[in-house]
Amino acid sequence: MAKSLHLTTENTELPLLQALVENSFDSVLITDASSDGKIIYANPAFKILTGFDPAKVIGKTPRILQGPATDKKVIARLSSALKSGGRFEGKAINYKKDGTPFIMFWRVVPIKVKRTIVAWVAIQRETSSL
Ligand SMILES: Cc1cc2nc3c(=O)[nH]c(=O)nc-3n(C[C@H](O)[C@H](O)[C@H](O)COP(=O)(O)O)c2cc1C
Repeated sequence: MAKSLHLTTENTELPLLQALVENSFDSVLITDASSDGKIIYANPAFKILTGFDPAKVIGKTPRILQGPATDKKVIARLSSALKSGGRFEGKAINYKKDGTPFIMFWRVVPIKVKRTIVAWVAIQRETSSL
């Protein structure tokens, strides 16, 4: 038994990770494994950032954040990262629930189990310049 806190200790791993994601200042969004991923989790910071209630976005896709000024080239780059199983980082205009536009800066990474992608995780924050 390790004396120091060990991330892989069976009894502490989940509560520790849960505390991290639930208390993060950054928004965290998780989608299912398909490239057209449906949201399976959003943390409290997602609601502060976007105004969308985490419970109500489950089953929808992050496209709910997009609108007329969202740069299609950035989304095409994300789309091809999803198809090739790669990472993405970019900025684009997104929209809050009340329609207010803002600049989203976000990163998407694949979560792999035995080389199979099981989910996608996004870390998101508002930024001041594109
Ligand atoms: C985990 C994850 C998070 C995403 N977050 C955002 C986001 O914050 N803003 C956004 O404009 N698109 C986001 N997307 C992209 C859309 O969900 C979608 O994949 C993208 O629009 C490409 O598909 P399309 O070309 O059919 O629209 C995210 C995708 C994934 C997988």
